[in-house]
Amino acid sequence: MMTELSLNVLDVANNSIRAGADLIEIIVQIQRELDTLTITIADNGCGMTKEQLQKVEDPFFTTRTTRKIGLGVPFFKMAALSTGGTFRIVSTVGVGTTVIAQFKLSHIDRMPLGDMNSTIHTLITLNTQINFVYTYQFDCNQFTLNTREFREILNDVPLNSPEVSEYIKEFLEENQNETDGGYLV
Ligand SMILES: Nc1ncnc2c1ncn2[C@@H]1O[C@H](COP(=O)(O)OP(=O)(O)OP(=O)(O)O)[C@@H](O)[C@H]1O
Ligand SMILES: [Mg+2]
Repeated sequence: MMTELSLNVLDVANNSIRAGADLIEIIVQIQRELDTLTITIADNGCGMTKEQLQKVEDPFFTTRTTRKIGLGVPFFKMAALSTGGTFRIVSTVGVGTTVIAQFKLSHIDRMPLGDMNSTIHTLITLNTQINFVYTYQFDCNQFTLNTREFREILNDVPLNSPEVSEYIKEFLEENQNETDGGYLV
């Protein structure tokens, strides 16, 4: 079982990568007035048919051949529903897939968000051919990291080079701190 939502995000984003996406958007929103934590993962990968989509929330469905049981999506769904939250997948073949999980922020069963910066950093540096847009919103504050903008500034320096990798790490940490003031989500 996963203990941090950031690990669920890593897992669900890896589905997007396996689906051939070259653009993945991840949005984390904390809205204390609404008592919600909302996590969105949207990709432009192969998408799913209606039949696939119906089965994807069922743990005994997977297109994987190495292992019979796919659990990434069901875990994420269960984590949201067990807080009285909601879970939704919208998918269109040839267009992409969007997964939206909403958690009741204050619910005792809500797993901690965990190290989202590490998830984003890992995704970016291990998948340099994919563009990521990450938005972190805390009440009225927010910041966005867009790898396309980084690429434009960096010209041909790869995102996984030691200097850039370190820069991305610091960018995430500094901006998160400015956005949530160190609030433990
Ligand atoms: N973003 C997506 N785009 C296209 N298909 C997807 C996407 N997410 C999930 N799927 C389909 O749903 C199946 C189930 O996904 P899930 O994450 O639950 O399990 P898995 O990836 O097969 O295995 P695990 O996550 O446990 O390693 C996948 O095998 C894939 O066929
Ligand atoms: Mg998976």
